[in-house]
This record gives sequence, C-alpha cells and structure tokens, in this order.
Amino acid sequence: MFSKSAHYYDAIYSFKDYPKETETIRTLISREKRTDGNRLLDVACGTGLHMLYLSEHFEVEGIDLDGDMLGFARHRVQSAMFHQGDMADFNLGSTFDVVICLFSSIGYLQTTKRLNNAIRCMADHLVTGGVMIVEPWYTPENWHPGTVHAKFIDEPELKIARVNTSYVNGIAILFRYALPGRHSGGHRSLRGATRIGSFYDCRNDRRIRIGGIGCFL
Ligand SMILES: C[S@@+](CC[C@H](N)C(=O)[O-])C[C@H]1O[C@@H](n2cnc3c(N)ncnc32)[C@H](O)[C@@H]1O
Repeated sequence: MFSKSAHYYDAIYSFKDYPKETETIRTLISREKRTDGNRLLDVACGTGLHMLYLSEHFEVEGIDLDGDMLGFARHRVQSAMFHQGDMADFNLGSTFDVVICLFSSIGYLQTTKRLNNAIRCMADHLVTGGVMIVEPWYTPENWHPGTVHAKFIDEPELKIARVNTSYVNGIAILFRYALPGRHSGGHRSLRGATRIGSFYDCRNDRRIRIGGIGCFL
C-alpha cells in the first residue's frame, strides 16, 4: 500500500498532531524508563514525523519495510540512521533505551505469530530498564466493516479524494481504497487493497503477555 501512496501519506494524515503525540510519548517514557541513555528506535517509522520531533530529545533511528517511506524519512531527519526491514524479523546489532511502534503499524503484521515475533524482536533491541511503546489498533469488536469512508485533500497544488471500505476476514481487515488525485505534475489514480490484522480486545485485561513478553496497557 505505502510504496504506491508514500507521496501522499503526509497530506492524507495531516489531521494527526505529531508534536502533541510526541509530548505524550515523552511523558510515558519519562514515567517508565529506568536507564540513563537516550537512544530511541522508531519501528515502522513511516515518513519520520515522530522522529523529527523526538530527535530534539533523543538519538533516533528508524526502521520501515517500505523504501519510499524511508526516502521521505531520511530527507526529513537527516541526522538519523535508517534501516529497511521487516519489524517481525530484524536484528540491528544494537540496543536502545526506547523502542516505539506507532499509529496502527502493528496491525500490518496480520497474524498473531508475526505479532509475537515482532514484540520479541523489539524487546531484544531494548536495554534492561528500557521502555517499549506499541500503539494498539482497532479490535475486531470496535471495527465497523462495510462502511465507506472518504478523505479529501484540497490544496492549491494537490487534490486527492481517497475512498475506502473494509471487510473482516478472520482476524484481518481488508481495506479497499482508491486515490484519484490531481497534482501539479498531472493526474494519477491509485487503487489497491491492504490487509491489516486486528488482534486482542484488551479493554478488560490491562496485563497481557505477547510473544512471552509481559505488557501492560
Ligand atoms: C500507518 S503507517 C505509520 C507510520 C508512522 N509510524 C507514523 O506514525 O506516521 C504504517 C507503517 O508501517 C510500515 N510497515 C508495514 N508493515 C511493516 C513491516 N512488516 N515491517 C516494518 N514496517 C512495516 C509501513 O511501510 C508504514 O510506513
């Protein structure tokens, strides 16, 4: 999905308040971290917007599967080191005080086996006393399949209409999307589907184990 739409990612998600989210993340880190170091790894870092703000406080590195997303992130956070890889199977040969994985990225793992592998991989990259923060995504219970959603970008040089719907297949939610767009370079139309896993309903269960790692919510 992202290799086709990376150019439009920041515009489509411009409603997100990355500076504010960064402050929330910093509060969580300062509450939980038990180390003196400040190395932070952003797993599935996308175009690097969290990293941009976090780089004012941490020595940041990022990893993402998608080379196009990484291209934008590299340009945005030039001081950072980036890696292309699968969050369910990576070994950077170094450890971090903080590992984060934000904004629905965890859902792209699709299966509980890959979820477990990813949580283990992230934990393996943490120093003792470090903090791992994984932002959860929708659970099967609070997702409404079959509804249609649309997002419009109407800027002078960029016009996008993104329309998507979804259905649930086992634990996966399949998105179908279309991105008919117009920008200064001409017209472009994208169509596709992406599969996202929806795992646990944790609302009544604030302590769980994922991949053998104790987690709290
Ligand atoms: C919704 S974006 C979130 C990006 C960023 N964390 C943010 O908050 O803007 C999901 C990201 O997950 C990445 N991704 C999907 N599957 C992945 C995988 N198996 N390993 C690493 N990154 C993956 C995508 O390329 C994309 O950049």
